[in-house]
Amino acid sequence: MMKYVEKKGKVFWPTAKAKEIGLAGQDVYKRAGEDRIKFWEELARTGVDWIEPWHTAYEQKGLKFGWFLGGKLNLCYNAVDRHLDKPDQTAVIFVPESPDEKVQRISYSELFKQVNQAAGLLQKKGVKKGDVVAIYLPMIPEALVFMLACARIGAIHSVVFSAFSADALRTRIKDGGAKVLVTANYYFRKGKKINLLEQANESCRGIEIQKIVVDRAKRGRMFEKAEEVIVKPVEMDAEDAAFILYTSGTTGKPKGVMHAVGGYAVQAYWSCRDVFNLKENESMWCTADVGWITGHTYACYGPLLTGATTLIFEGLPNYPEPDRYLEVIDKEKVNVFYTAPTALRMFALDGTEHTKKYNLDSLKILGSVGEPIDEATWMWFFKNIGKSRCPVIDTYWQTETGSAVICALPGIGPFIPTYAGKPFPGIEYKIVDDNLRKVKPGKKGMLVQVPPFAPGLMRGVWKNEKRYIKYFKKGVYLAEDNAFEKGGNLRVLGRADDIIKVAGHRMSTAEIENAIAGLKGVAEAAVVSKADKLRGEVPVAFVKAKRSLTEEEVIARVVKMIGPIAKPAEVYFVEDIPKTRSGKMMRRILKALIAGEEVTNTSTLVNPGSVGEIERLVRGKV
Ligand code: WT7
Repeated sequence: MMKYVEKKGKVFWPTAKAKEIGLAGQDVYKRAGEDRIKFWEELARTGVDWIEPWHTAYEQKGLKFGWFLGGKLNLCYNAVDRHLDKPDQTAVIFVPESPDEKVQRISYSELFKQVNQAAGLLQKKGVKKGDVVAIYLPMIPEALVFMLACARIGAIHSVVFSAFSADALRTRIKDGGAKVLVTANYYFRKGKKINLLEQANESCRGIEIQKIVVDRAKRGRMFEKAEEVIVKPVEMDAEDAAFILYTSGTTGKPKGVMHAVGGYAVQAYWSCRDVFNLKENESMWCTADVGWITGHTYACYGPLLTGATTLIFEGLPNYPEPDRYLEVIDKEKVNVFYTAPTALRMFALDGTEHTKKYNLDSLKILGSVGEPIDEATWMWFFKNIGKSRCPVIDTYWQTETGSAVICALPGIGPFIPTYAGKPFPGIEYKIVDDNLRKVKPGKKGMLVQVPPFAPGLMRGVWKNEKRYIKYFKKGVYLAEDNAFEKGGNLRVLGRADDIIKVAGHRMSTAEIENAIAGLKGVAEAAVVSKADKLRGEVPVAFVKAKRSLTEEEVIARVVKMIGPIAKPAEVYFVEDIPKTRSGKMMRRILKALIAGEEVTNTSTLVNPGSVGEIERLVRGKV
């Protein structure tokens, strides 16, 4: 069996063979370092097909920057049409939730047909270049088909995670000004039919919007009987918006992160190729839902841009049996398996025994994303799924960066548990203090990206220029993560703001607070995170109520406004929430109390008595 890594001390390095097959050459950092703009130009020329070349590679005016200006291209053409020279190669493998339902393989020529049909259908509904299309679909082939169809006609897709509630969808439809909503009648979750259409309908009440409803029973074959339609890919400017994706910020309102066609295409292609060493005849299974950026880039665009095969899975990786994911990797001969620490912790908790039934020899690379991965989970992944043969690539990135930006490259290494590694060639990050001065190696600081900004970095926040500007300080992009550097490798420690990661899903404490505060009888709510063995972090709510309320009511409210993923793990009804004289809720104190830490400095509070009360409540619960 092929071995791609070897251990040297506490660190793993690529084997000679892995170095040899590494698609990113050994000199890639050196080449990129010589001239970052020239380097990206070379990548853009060789990775993406352009209708017209650019006249200016990079331009920056204040905080507004752009890449490949004057260049024209189409993202869908690059992901689909240009692979039609190998029409029979599988583009998408769809694995339904039920093991009894047949797996479907969609070739590039078939995908081409479906995408054209979908594009034609969108056009019939009046969708034009620049219009927003909301996509609220489960993980079925049509999710990819409609995303690609939007890209084909220059429409801006706004994909909303299917487990978000009707209210959450409504907020996103309204903010985006979507013209059409693409949804499905139902999907399966743990054998149960989930009525998605009911939620979709509820979300659109009183909004003028057209709907396209996919019949789950006909998934992957929705256009089977339709007459052939060919829709010409629309010529897009490199800086035109490719899509928006709503993500949580520190305010109560989600923000529509905007990505540009050219830079996104270039970076999605190259990161997929070089980070996962993905070749045309290989397959990648990214377990993330398309409702998140990970699903956009590594379940849809990345693998298709590289002309490889993407595997999408409707269900939960441990249903109906805990080894379902192993069975899928084994049966479908998956080469790259990309998942989140939360999923891995869950697999590990289910026991190691069942991993021994599979040799998983198709696997070449393992990837982790979404939150810091602890050493034990890294090693478990490495040993039991990778069989100590495959590197674990810990990829750090964000909705805002569009693609993986910090990680080791498989042919170069090193692979160090808990360290994401080096910035992707051509991208520069620094770790700085509050005054933006570089901190010493080993010292914790703020992670910032410095110009020229990466081609894939977001270009704006939908209809909210003010929010976009907040991402920058003195000319650098603030990742809002804490990190430190050692020997050139970066270790990301977690968010520096009030965003929390629940099972790898990005949640805003303010958004949960808003949801609770809107409940009748609630005077105030504060939400903080608490460490959780399985899910990384979970939200805990402190509620000051004017009438008697139950925990169930609070939880139901959060589920209704956001979705089940945002459910508080604990709810405390309190007399008072600790606050400063200026009225700021002291989440830091609440966090410490929840963690069982001693809180001493309460002199800045207007209501220091609240601390003792909460301490007693929290202890009582334990
Ligand atoms: C936040 C972004 C990147 C796609 C999925 C998440 C955290 C992400 C890592 C990692 C440590 C990580 C950061 C980041 N994060 N990957 N490998 N190590 N932390 O995208 O939902 O926009 O969340 O996820 O805190 O800021 P997102």
